[in-house]
Amino acid sequence: MGSENFDSRAAEWDSDPDKVSRAQEVAAAILEAVPIEPSARLLEYGAGTGLVTQALRERVGPVVLADNSRGMRQVMQQKIDAGVLPDAEVWDLDLERDAVPDEQFDLVVTSLVLHHVRDLPTVLAGFAALLRPGGHVFVADLDREDGSFHQHDFDGHHGFDRAELAAALEQAGFSQVRVTDCTTLLKEGTPYSVFLATAQR
Ligand SMILES: C[S@@+](CC[C@H](N)C(=O)[O-])C[C@H]1O[C@@H](n2cnc3c(N)ncnc32)[C@H](O)[C@@H]1O
Repeated sequence: MGSENFDSRAAEWDSDPDKVSRAQEVAAAILEAVPIEPSARLLEYGAGTGLVTQALRERVGPVVLADNSRGMRQVMQQKIDAGVLPDAEVWDLDLERDAVPDEQFDLVVTSLVLHHVRDLPTVLAGFAALLRPGGHVFVADLDREDGSFHQHDFDGHHGFDRAELAAALEQAGFSQVRVTDCTTLLKEGTPYSVFLATAQR
């Protein structure tokens, strides 16, 4: 999927208080889901402006922020340069398109990204390859919705059925899959529920 839409929205992304609070709620749900070592190496995939990682920053070790949108990567780099996101690096990574980097993480986090991805099995397999055995993946995303969330030119997923996503995670080699309620996203007055799926490599 093209990244132009996100490129043009990157500079204004953090001025929406709902996006900031939603990211904080996703981070809180992650911290509640499993005990996390303070030294844990974290990859946030489709990190946007890095809001979820910002909310986790004091609870984890070194972080990598990956996104296929240049605009989003620029905002994250500005935050790193300004000291808002210390001990962080930014990657241009699209697991549908790129080879999986030869790196190992303890945690992979992705928030509201997978509904934009067409080839879900390839991306989930990429997460599994990037995690050390025993590491955790956290997927926050929309529950199955009626297509009203993205009204124009959208060829991604209209949210996810929780059982289908759990099966896709197992297919990618994950175990101990759990899916819980996470937060609610309000778009033009309509509420959309967001789940958090947690699984172990
Ligand atoms: C709805 S935004 C969410 C941003 C951030 N995770 C948050 O919760 O605030 C989706 C993000 O995923 C990125 N993205 C979409 N498809 C991607 C892909 N195939 N690979 C990497 N990043 C992708 C977009 O550029 C955008 O930054």
